[in-house]
Amino acid sequence: MEAKWVLVLLSIMLVVQVVNGEEDTTSSVKPLVKIVKGKKLCDKGWECKGWSAYCCNQTISDYFQSYQFENLFSKRNSPVAHAVDFWDYHSFITAAAEYQPHGFGTTGGKLQGMKEVAAFLGHVGSKTSCGYGVATGGPLAWGLCYNKEMSPNQLYCDDYFKYTYPCSPGASYHGRGALPLYWNYNYGETGEALKVDLLNHPEYIEQNATLAFQAAIWRWMTPVKKNQPSAHDVFVGKWKPTKNDTLAKRVPGFGTTINVLYGDQSCGQGDVDSMNNIVSHYLYYLDLIGVGREEAGPHDVLSCAEQEAFEPSSSSSSSSSSSS
Ligand SMILES: *[C@@H]1O[C@H](CO)[C@@H](O)[C@H](O)[C@H]1NC(C)=O
Ligand SMILES: *[C@@H]1O[C@H](CO)[C@@H](O)[C@H](O)[C@H]1NC(C)=O
Ligand SMILES: *[C@@H]1O[C@H](CO)[C@@H](O)[C@H](O)[C@H]1NC(C)=O
Repeated sequence: MEAKWVLVLLSIMLVVQVVNGEEDTTSSVKPLVKIVKGKKLCDKGWECKGWSAYCCNQTISDYFQSYQFENLFSKRNSPVAHAVDFWDYHSFITAAAEYQPHGFGTTGGKLQGMKEVAAFLGHVGSKTSCGYGVATGGPLAWGLCYNKEMSPNQLYCDDYFKYTYPCSPGASYHGRGALPLYWNYNYGETGEALKVDLLNHPEYIEQNATLAFQAAIWRWMTPVKKNQPSAHDVFVGKWKPTKNDTLAKRVPGFGTTINVLYGDQSCGQGDVDSMNNIVSHYLYYLDLIGVGREEAGPHDVLSCAEQEAFEPSSSSSSSSSSSS
């Protein structure tokens, strides 16, 4: 045994150590398991709590790690971006922890989970991008460039809701967040759900990235209107189309998530930019995350160009423009 071999052996051991060390911090916490009435339920600690079947599956931090977040949003902290040092991986995972026991990123196994994260973030990237035209790195590299609308020209106070969601004096309900919120009633409704007084403090959303992601994931997981599915439900296939849906060409998949969130602002208009931009971000993220865009399925599942809107949008969650 020469010194050379000892050295080789030592360095191999070192590599193994480093690899193990990385695994310990980033992946696969073994869940606690119990069986209730024949159903397997799990609790995985902070990221997936509360004895849910979904927590038995891989959780988001198992398959989507900090370096992948950095790849997806590689330009967000460049000097010309508008929310430098605001958005980070940790806030996304912290926000997602609330919803993983309900199936966000944990439905149907690892591949489906990765696709859902790419889909959700595709919407987010599209609505928070400042990558127009010839931006360096390509227009799709600029997601999470904004956390608010830069030059609002109104307060987005709708008097129709003056008894349910009265505007707070001096407050402005312009676009803020990851799936930007607009209007007093949307801040009001979201605030009620998250138990945060957003009606009186809409600015909280632009001060706290965890809250901003939470509001966005809540929107993804919750029907915009009664008797409609959530974006999550249509994406993971939990939603079964009715005869009317089929006639209106609404099928489970990514395209219909655009319909849920934006209705006729982006759907049923043919190949319009507002729709294409969201689809492009989704495909780009599928590639970067390691799934590959070929997993996205055929055009009529990806797109809502030919779909009838769920309902003509009057009070849909966000206005059409991105937060520029
Ligand atoms: C967990 O993942 C498996 C595939 O790995 C899937 O068949 C199952 O439906 C998932 N569980 C839930 C609750 O989605
Ligand atoms: C940010 O929001 C999260 C989620 O609502 C909350 O738990 C946290 O305390 C907030 N942070 C600050 C500094 O207010
Ligand atoms: C189906 O569509 C028709 C015509 O638009 C409408 O009158 C009817 O209420 C719809 N049915 C359901 C179950 O949504």
